[in-house]
Amino acid sequence: MSKKVLVSGGAGYIGSHVTVELIAAGYEVVVADNLSNCDLTCFEGVKKITGRDDIPFYQIDCCDYASVDKVFTEHKIDAVIHFAAFKAVGESVAEPIMYYRNNLVSFLNILEVAKNHGGCNVLFSSSATVYGEAEVLPVTEQTPRLPATSPYGNTKQMCEDILRDVVAATAASEGVVKGIALRYFNPIGAHPSALIGELPRGVPNNLVPFITQTAIGKRECLSIFGNDYPTADGTGVRDYIHVVDLAIGHLHALKKVCSGTGLNIYNLGTGNGYSVLEVLRAFEKACGHPIKFEIAPRRPGDIATCFSDPSKAKAE
Ligand code: UD1
Repeated sequence: MSKKVLVSGGAGYIGSHVTVELIAAGYEVVVADNLSNCDLTCFEGVKKITGRDDIPFYQIDCCDYASVDKVFTEHKIDAVIHFAAFKAVGESVAEPIMYYRNNLVSFLNILEVAKNHGGCNVLFSSSATVYGEAEVLPVTEQTPRLPATSPYGNTKQMCEDILRDVVAATAASEGVVKGIALRYFNPIGAHPSALIGELPRGVPNNLVPFITQTAIGKRECLSIFGNDYPTADGTGVRDYIHVVDLAIGHLHALKKVCSGTGLNIYNLGTGNGYSVLEVLRAFEKACGHPIKFEIAPRRPGDIATCFSDPSKAKAE
C-alpha cells in the first residue's frame, strides 16, 4: 500500500475531496497547490473535516522543477495524484500556450522528479473529453480517442501518452513509475459536511456550480446552451458522478496501481446520462424553489451526449 501520497492541486475541488478520503483511509497526505483557481477555503475545510491541523501544505507551482523536487526531498512520496492543471475549455482555445505550458510542464516535472527519487505510483486526472463525440455509447476504455477539439482536451490526451511512455521506459530501471489514468465524467456535488465543495473563481464554466450560484441569487439566470441537440429533450446529456464517489475511486485506483504493471485506464462515471433540464429540475426539487433559466445558443465545442460504461472500474 502506498503510504505517503502527494496530492498536486489538493486545495481544489476534486483534490480536496480526495485528500479527505485518503486521510480517512489512513494515508499520509502532502498537499501542493499554487492556489491559481482557488483560495485556502477548501484546504481549511479539509483540516476541519479530518480533524488534522498538521497536513503538510506547499504553495508551489508544479511548473517549477525545484519546488517539486523540494517536496520529494522532504517527504518519501509513494504515490502522486496529479490534479494540478487548468481546466477551462474555452480559455484553453484563447490561451493555448498558457495551457500547454502549464498542463504539460507540471506533469513532466512530477514524473521526472518522481523517477529521480526512486520512482512512485502516479494517478493522472484525465477526462471523458478524450472520447470527444463518440459514435457508440456508452464509451468504454476501448472506445477510440478522437482528435481533441481544444488545447485543454489535447493536454489530457498528451499527458496520458506521456504517462504510458514513462511507465514503459522505467519498468526495468531504478526509478519505476507506475501509472493509472482516470477518465472522469462530470464530477458534481460536495462533501456532506458542506465544508468543501466546488468554489471556482469568477463565473463558473460548468453546469452545476452555475446552477448553485443561481439558486442562491449570486447569478441572475442560468443559460442552457442549446435545446436542439438530438437528445430526448434537446439539451445536452452527461454522466454526472458525485465527487465523493469519484474520490473513493481514487483510493481503489491507488491499491490497483501498486499491484499492476503498465498504464491502466479507467472510466470513472456512473453509466447514466442526464440532460441539462433533468439536472436543473432535480436541483429545483432538492432546493425547493424554481431556478430562472433561458435557452441560449449552443456553446462552441459542446457535444450532444456522453456517458460512460464504468464496468471495468466496478469489476476491478
Ligand atoms: C467540460 C469538458 C470536460 C472537462 C469539464 C471540466 C469537453 C467536451 N468537456 O465538460 O472535458 O473535464 O468541462 O471543466 O471538453 N451547460 C449549460 N449551461 C452552463 C454550463 C453548462 O447549459 O452554464 C451545459 C453544457 O452545454 C453541457 C452540460 O451543461 O451540456 C455540462 O457542461 P459542463 O458542466 O461545462 O461540462 P462538460 O462540458 O461536459
